[in-house]
Order: sequence, then C-alpha cells, then structure tokens
Amino acid sequence: MFAKDSVALVTGSAAGIGLATALAFGRAGAQVVLSDRDGERGEAAAEQVRALGVTAEFIQADQADPEAVRALHARIKERFGRLDAACNNAGIEGDQGPILESSLENFDRVIGINLRGLFVCLQEQLRLMLAGQGGAIVNMASVAGLVGFAGLPAYCASKGGVVQLTRTAALEYAERGVRVNAVCPGAIKTEMIDRLTRQDPATEQQFAALHPINRMGRVEEVADTVVWLCSPQASFITGQALAVDGGLVAR
Ligand SMILES: NC(=O)c1ccc[n+]([C@@H]2O[C@H](COP(=O)([O-])OP(=O)(O)OC[C@H]3O[C@@H](n4cnc5c(N)ncnc54)[C@H](O)[C@@H]3O)[C@@H](O)[C@H]2O)c1
Repeated sequence: MFAKDSVALVTGSAAGIGLATALAFGRAGAQVVLSDRDGERGEAAAEQVRALGVTAEFIQADQADPEAVRALHARIKERFGRLDAACNNAGIEGDQGPILESSLENFDRVIGINLRGLFVCLQEQLRLMLAGQGGAIVNMASVAGLVGFAGLPAYCASKGGVVQLTRTAALEYAERGVRVNAVCPGAIKTEMIDRLTRQDPATEQQFAALHPINRMGRVEEVADTVVWLCSPQASFITGQALAVDGGLVAR
C-alpha cells in the first residue's frame, strides 16, 4: 500500500492504539518512526515492528514539551529526509470528575499534551510534508470530541479542539498536497480503558453497552482506519472526523 521508501510517524506508539497503528503501517510496507515518552516500552515496540521485516526507529519525545517534539521531527528529517504519513496519537485521559471538582492543573496537563502538543506536531509535520511530496496526517481525536461525556471535561475539550484543528489544517493545506483527517474512536480495549473502568466487569459492560454493536472496539480496528486514511485509497478525503465507534454517535 505504501512505497518502500515512504516514512510514517506514530506518536504514543509504545502501547495501545499507537502500537497497533505502527504495526499496521509496517505491514502496509512503510518505514515506521515510533515515538513515545516511555523509552523502554517504545524501544520494545520498535523491535516488534522491525520483526515484520521493515525499517523502524524509536525516538523518545514527550508531547507536552514543544522542544522535544521539534527535535523528534528534526531527527526524522536528518535520518529519512521525508515524511509521508503521520498519526498524532499520544494522549491522556487525565483525572475523572465533574467540572466543579476539577483542578486547573489537570485541565492544563490534558490540554498541554492532547491539544497544544498535537498542535506543535502538526506544525512540524506540515513543514516536512510541504517541503517534500505532500502527505497525509491523522489526528487521534475521540467520540469525546463529537459528543460530551460527564466526568471528563478536560479530555472532551481537548478532543473537540483536535477535531476543529483538523478541519482548519485540512482547509489551509488541501491545495498544497497535504490531507488532514481525524479518527474518533469509541471505547477501545487498552490500558487507558482499563484505567477508566478499573477493570471492573460491570463497568466494562456499561462501556460496551454504549455502542450499538454492544462491545468495545479492538486496537486493530482503529489502526486499519488510520492506515487507510493515510493511503492513496483515501486520496479525496480530507477534513473529516471519522467515528470508529460501533455506532455510538449515530444514536
Ligand atoms: N482507548 C480508547 O478507548 C480511546 C478512545 C478514543 C480515543 N482514544 C485516544 O487514542 C489515543 C491512544 O489511546 P490508548 O487507549 O492507546 O492509550 P494508552 O494509555 O493505552 O497508550 C497511550 C500511549 O501514549 C503515550 N503517551 C502518553 N502521554 C504522552 C506524552 N505526553 N508524550 C508521548 N507519549 C505519550 C503513553 O506512554 C502510551 O504509550 C489517545 O489519544 C486517546 O485519547 C482512545
């Protein structure tokens, strides 16, 4: 699906949806750059991608730190000289609780990673892609960027911001060969969901029942959507916020 010399970046790819996406890009034939704040798990994830027989490099970066994000992209430029696809996936759920019980520190932390950090990623990726052959970017939003969820105000605000940033970037760079889309997953069984449900079976069932399909999603179901959106098969799609949610927002 991707030319052998093409390069795909996935942030937050030491675990969960990001790791599945890095593996899916590798299976589709791209060279993969993995990035995460967790160095040990990130290196292990890159090893998993290399086992597919493709080039994979891990570069540690905390998305909360603009200088680290810039250094990550500078390293991609130096090592590969190009960037064809990027999935801005790193994100946190933050603390749970209603607005009146929420701290400003939590709000700043969640926005700082999920929205401000992603904005810096987007700037760097646009620069690299515009200097090359163009490319495709997929931002990891959430159904929480399309509808509200009580108890997660900062997270919902950050993901709503990601959706609007995606639409704006798509409009600004469509003519110059860069497509920008967002994917909005429902509940996908990862460590993030395990933290939110505390692995309590009754809570897990409540999460599953939010989706008309009556189960949580699998990481591969999101990863395959991201890779498809970045591929030539999706060449006329830009500015979309695509729900991968078993029908949750169709209700
Ligand atoms: N799991 C879900 O149900 C779900 C639903 C909708 C959206 N999402 C979004 O998908 C993305 C991935 O979620 P997940 O469930 O795989 O999460 P996860 O917590 O299982 O994995 C997240 C990965 O991102 C990394 N990360 C966190 N903060 C980082 C930072 N500041 N800099 C760099 N890396 C960082 C973590 O180290 C980890 O490897 C997130 O943006 C999340 O908001 C998840």
